[in-house]
Amino acid sequence: MGVNGGGCCSLMVVLVFAVFITVCSAGRHSSISRNKLQLQRHLNRLNKPSQKTILSPDGDVIECVHISRQPAFDHPFLKNHTIQMRPNYHPEGLYDDSKVASKSKPKEKRQTVSQLWHHSGEKCPEGTIPVRRTKEEDVLRAKSIKTYGRKKHRSIAKPRSPDPDLVNESGHQHAIAYVEGDKYYGAKATINVWEPRIQQPNEFSLSQIWVLGGSFGQDLNSIEAGWQVSPDLYGDNNTRLFTYWTSDAYQATGCYNLLCSGFIQINSEIAMGASISPVSGYRGSQYDISILVWKDPKEGNWWMQFGNDYVMGYWPSFLFSYLADTASMIEWGGEVVNSEPDGQHTATQMGSGHFPEEGFGKASYFRNIQVVDESNNLKAPKDIGTFTEQSNCYDVQTGNNGDWGHYFYYGGPGRNDNCA
Ligand SMILES: *[C@@H]1O[C@H](CO)[C@@H](O)[C@H](O)[C@H]1NC(C)=O
Ligand SMILES: *[C@@H]1O[C@H](CO)[C@@H](O)[C@H](O)[C@H]1NC(C)=O
Ligand SMILES: *[C@@H]1O[C@H](CO)[C@@H](O)[C@H](O)[C@H]1NC(C)=O
Repeated sequence: MGVNGGGCCSLMVVLVFAVFITVCSAGRHSSISRNKLQLQRHLNRLNKPSQKTILSPDGDVIECVHISRQPAFDHPFLKNHTIQMRPNYHPEGLYDDSKVASKSKPKEKRQTVSQLWHHSGEKCPEGTIPVRRTKEEDVLRAKSIKTYGRKKHRSIAKPRSPDPDLVNESGHQHAIAYVEGDKYYGAKATINVWEPRIQQPNEFSLSQIWVLGGSFGQDLNSIEAGWQVSPDLYGDNNTRLFTYWTSDAYQATGCYNLLCSGFIQINSEIAMGASISPVSGYRGSQYDISILVWKDPKEGNWWMQFGNDYVMGYWPSFLFSYLADTASMIEWGGEVVNSEPDGQHTATQMGSGHFPEEGFGKASYFRNIQVVDESNNLKAPKDIGTFTEQSNCYDVQTGNNGDWGHYFYYGGPGRNDNCA
């Protein structure tokens, strides 16, 4: 062993010199090629071997990856994980949205919302999951490999914050409804889908559910799901289904979609980060999606369902601290980044880009908002609060009726005469 070790060492010295000489002779190109190598490694980590490739009309490449080779299993804690192919329980009182919808709007023919890549007619084979391929240019649009697929710090709305600077920090603006002060085991909503205009590529506009645990300090836990338009993340202005998670207030843990290890997808039909189609039109057809996030009372994992039919998968409980136990707050609503281009408020739209007062067919909404309680029952939330940083830019208005249960309209145009 000693002798071999010595031989190994001298070989190492030679190798190190060889590398040193190579780097030196490469001169100023060395850092470029090093970056390129890093980029390639990162892409190889994200893009797992695929059994089938499907091209989407929007330019996306959907890879059908064997379920046991998905990015989640890069996580050291998931090395021996047995995939749960279905949740042990759904929440009680889960109603069929299509029934509610047809009851409330009998004359309106309702088309289902799906994903653009389905238009090719191709499907992922059994035992695989569809994964949106990360292209080189996707990563290059991010500031660095590290920040690709991540939200900036503290992009969370903290209603009634004692510190207004914290609320306005990093220019994120919200129009949300929320509940707090209880133990929550999930949340649901039906959200109509729009394609808000984004003024600057580094801004985004999203509409989502937040399932939150802990205080709003450095250890905030958050599970998020909804739709978003984010030119930097995806390279276009399409509306996409997305998820996010963090267990340390957006610092070192978590990411969008499957862009890091964590979320375990079981669904073979819906791809995280893929475009949703069709979207609602102003004074036109309205298209909505429902999203349910809930905690499996037996295993403790947090599950996500899209629509009535698609159980997407789950976040294992161990990813979280507070959420390993329970959520302490639920938020529903919109968020945009206001980067104040040309020193003025951004004209990036939230939701439909119209204010709540305009109502159905014009404003964006969340309807049938519900929470899951300790006994795994879906129920109406109590004492719903609302919050917005600047209601002249983006606003929110709640309501309650038989068909829509608790609902709210939200959103706005951003920059206008009253929002500069
Ligand atoms: C996985 O299982 C092997 C064999 O049972 C065990 O030695 C190892 O510690 C396990 N790893 C983890 C991360 O649980
Ligand atoms: C956020 O900043 C805007 C513009 O500076 C200000 O008008 C608004 O009052 C602030 N909101 C809060 C909640 O501090
Ligand atoms: C996205 O929309 C913005 C503003 O409407 C536009 O300037 C930009 O060219 C669009 N980007 C793409 C990739 O289509």
